Amino acid sequence: MAIKIPAEEKYKEKKKILVVDDYLPTRRLIVDALDQSSQYEVNEAENGEEALQLFNEDNYDLVISDIMMPGMSGMDLLNRIREKNLFAAVIMITGNPTVDLTVSAIKKGAVDFLTKPFDIDDLLFKVDIHLRGKSLLAADSADTISGHTNLQDQSDELSKQGYIFDSIDDSPLDNDVIFEKIAALALKLVDGEVCSILLFDEQDNEFHTKVVKGESEGITRNYKHSSALGMVFNEVIERKEAVVINSNEHPDVSPSLICAPLMIRNSILGILSVRKKKNREIFNKKDLHHILSLTKRASLNLENKILYESIYSNIMDTLKSLISSIQARDHYTEAHCQRVTDISLKIATQMNCSTKDMESLKIAGVLHDVGKIAVPDSILLKPDKLTLEEFLIIKNHPTIGENILRPVILLEKERKIIQCHHERWDGKGYPLGIAGMEIPCLARILAVADSFDAMTNNRPYRPAMPLNKAIDELVNNKNTQFDEEVVNAFLKLI
Ligand SMILES: [Fe+2]
Repeated sequence: MAIKIPAEEKYKEKKKILVVDDYLPTRRLIVDALDQSSQYEVNEAENGEEALQLFNEDNYDLVISDIMMPGMSGMDLLNRIREKNLFAAVIMITGNPTVDLTVSAIKKGAVDFLTKPFDIDDLLFKVDIHLRGKSLLAADSADTISGHTNLQDQSDELSKQGYIFDSIDDSPLDNDVIFEKIAALALKLVDGEVCSILLFDEQDNEFHTKVVKGESEGITRNYKHSSALGMVFNEVIERKEAVVINSNEHPDVSPSLICAPLMIRNSILGILSVRKKKNREIFNKKDLHHILSLTKRASLNLENKILYESIYSNIMDTLKSLISSIQARDHYTEAHCQRVTDISLKIATQMNCSTKDMESLKIAGVLHDVGKIAVPDSILLKPDKLTLEEFLIIKNHPTIGENILRPVILLEKERKIIQCHHERWDGKGYPLGIAGMEIPCLARILAVADSFDAMTNNRPYRPAMPLNKAIDELVNNKNTQFDEEVVNAFLKLI
């Protein structure tokens, strides 16, 4: 018989949620939004101590807590809650997200993380996903032998959940790679032989194969809407339901098939299906639960990435228009920024920098002189040597660039590179005067590329330097102005 789990099923009983935030307007916003759904019973606390007392007095299915609170912090509260109940779901909220904080909260057992200001729909979506995950976990536990909780199973369960979490959230930005990873994970989690991910195009009502893993001519490559498998897929899409089919009710898909929707918000993105168990056993409810955990986590991750990409491209468009406004005044800057980016990327490749570093360099390279927007034309375009006073104004541009990017949390790393691109290895640079390894590595790379390009191009106040002389300058200034390792990497390129 087929096991089915609807994506939008109502909970059997109201879920209890505790909202903790010392800032009343945020707390009210969350409580009011949750109250609008008749599915939750919501309580609130204005600090960690009060929250802990409420948590000790009652069983809560989910806690939503701010991190920065006077007295007991959200992280301390998370610790205390998890001490009391290892399975308590806690969503953390913060206005100051850093990678360290996020990783630390997740390691301590937070199920999710939201950044202020957050979209209330996002919060409701995440609340629903985590409560639904808990319901399934509870149902599975109830299925264990004689109704007793099987600790080994629970521990396996938690490690599998953690594994899904870590694997998906470590994914690179490339969506194709993520789909490959999701398919490989699905096979591993349920010991399956064939996994396929098909994306659903609502416009032409067609599935498009994204990934097939485990078999070169999988059924999923050639299925038709009218086939038994096609009918299963259509049903999954229509009902937004995950299914396990184990009997011979669909001879095409026997002996065993799991099929789950990949959803973004309430829309179907596609479906993931796993066929055949390696040991010839049939898929069970636990396998279905694992696939559901995976597809939910993957859906959230894809949604975040899509959101990130759209925010990111908006920000980049804005920043590029800022650069254009500088370029309109000073044509040198445009070509210079592009050349500096190209040289920096080559050095970074030579130094085996990561893909993420390369992405940061692409942005920081293009934007490194964005602060020159505040430098008056009379100084920026001056054909003669600058006076000391004028030079001091020019020297502000890394700080101004850093200030321009400060509100953009997504570009924190790039902001630091831009701020430090005129620092020197010996600490005699500006604006911070930091030295050596204190200067971010990518800023040290950018500094070499920037200086080399400036030296080898004509400026209004001096002609371009011959290539060999510019190289001599870099070599002679190793360990004073420049990082020796970066200069050596650059020399290998020439
Ligand atoms: Fe600069």
